[in-house]
Amino acid sequence: MKKISIFEIYTKNNYLNKIITMSGWIRSKRISKIGISFLTIYDGSSAYTIQVIAKKSLFNYSAEIRKLTVGCSVIVSGYLTLSPSNLQTYEIQANKIKIIGWVDRPDSYPMSAKKHTIEYIRNFGHLRPRTNLISVIARIRNVVFQSLNQFLNNYGYIWVSTPIITSIDTEGSGSMFQVSILDVNNHLHTKKSINKENYFFGKKVFLTVSGQLTLEAYACALSKVYSFGPTFRAENSNTKKHLTEFWMLEVEKAFSDINDISIFAEKLLKYSVSFVLDNCISDLLFLQKKIDKNIIFRLNNFLNIDFVNIEYNEAINILLKNNNIINQKISWGDDLSSCHEKYLVNNYFKAPVIIRNYPKLLKAFYMRINEDEKTVSAFDILLPHVGEIIGGSEREDRINYLETRMNEMGLNKENYDWYKDLRKYGTVPHAGFGLGLERLILFITGIKNIRESIPFPRTVGHADF
Ligand code: 4AD
Ligand code: MG
Repeated sequence: MKKISIFEIYTKNNYLNKIITMSGWIRSKRISKIGISFLTIYDGSSAYTIQVIAKKSLFNYSAEIRKLTVGCSVIVSGYLTLSPSNLQTYEIQANKIKIIGWVDRPDSYPMSAKKHTIEYIRNFGHLRPRTNLISVIARIRNVVFQSLNQFLNNYGYIWVSTPIITSIDTEGSGSMFQVSILDVNNHLHTKKSINKENYFFGKKVFLTVSGQLTLEAYACALSKVYSFGPTFRAENSNTKKHLTEFWMLEVEKAFSDINDISIFAEKLLKYSVSFVLDNCISDLLFLQKKIDKNIIFRLNNFLNIDFVNIEYNEAINILLKNNNIINQKISWGDDLSSCHEKYLVNNYFKAPVIIRNYPKLLKAFYMRINEDEKTVSAFDILLPHVGEIIGGSEREDRINYLETRMNEMGLNKENYDWYKDLRKYGTVPHAGFGLGLERLILFITGIKNIRESIPFPRTVGHADF
């Protein structure tokens, strides 16, 4: 008989009062005084569980069903009926329960029915998807990923894969992981200069911090492109908002400018949130109960609120005027720290904020210089709860300005000959941005720590699995 998922039971109405077969794992079990077992089963297809009623008359009741514990896997057949209890909508009156996998030593099963803290379950990366919370987040993450691809597809953007192994330090911050097959214990590695031939690729290469520069090459040919993949930053930022390996969506558009691309970025965020509201209601209801009681209101509100658009200069003025209530002093030329971002977004504007035109010294070499020659045409989008979610800019499309900037920043120009070619042969104004997938998951779900937004988090000192 065809198996039906719990998601199908709850979303398609045609299974009621019919015999169905489903499979899953036991989340909890209770035995009544008159010898009936009530099993709560999950299968990961949604946040819903289903109650299975197992009576003594089942042939394997005493030998097996009575002995089931949390985590055992089963295949169940029986009548699907409405539940008289208000704890669940449906239940299955089982006529057959086949035990597929037992749990060894149930008292030591780390994901037992007990309530565990988020920090405790983080120690069991391979088992934590069995918890309600992590499975809810995994499903929402999937829907967010689909929504972003779908939105870009609807607007005619072409997906391009940019290299993960690269020689380019796109952000110029130097915080890259070097990729090498040389033995770190070998003296060759500690020598200052290693022969080119000793390198696998004939030169030093790294894990990418951003695919933007190579994505620009495709934007300057296909007009509208995006890349979506893992990104690596060897920064010592051990905060609740930073991962060492995270997923970044990068969007690049030719014949575009900062207005055009920042409006598009706002639309993209809203599309993703509305897609989650439309497609993840059972998961959101779970989060509403356990994590953020305002989640549905908050997300709906986000769809209806216009992002505030301000210049970096204005942001600094606001922060200076309110210096007395913010812990950290700031002056023109400083980067905003998280307390400044929080003040602007949560207290002052009470809305998402787009900050534009940052001092050039704060930003990467590729950003287009403004007429004042002090600032660049860059923008960051800040959201409540997470801070910076998107960073983007117009790209410097004038070869002479680009070369001056590279000189000022001491970049090895030879590595960028190809990048300069894009400005020599039919240059075009273009702009783009990068969106951190995990920060978007933080915002949507309301969870506190970015380590819950990705299945196997990598942070300083942690790379399990
Ligand atoms: O602002 P960033 O560094 O921008 C770039 O890399 C550009 N080259 C993107 C582009 O224009 N194509 O990073 C973009 C976004 C940030 O706004 C943030 O959401 C996320 O990536 N991000 C991180 N997310 C988690 N952990 C980290 N360590 C992150 N660093 C950046
Ligand atoms: Mg940034």
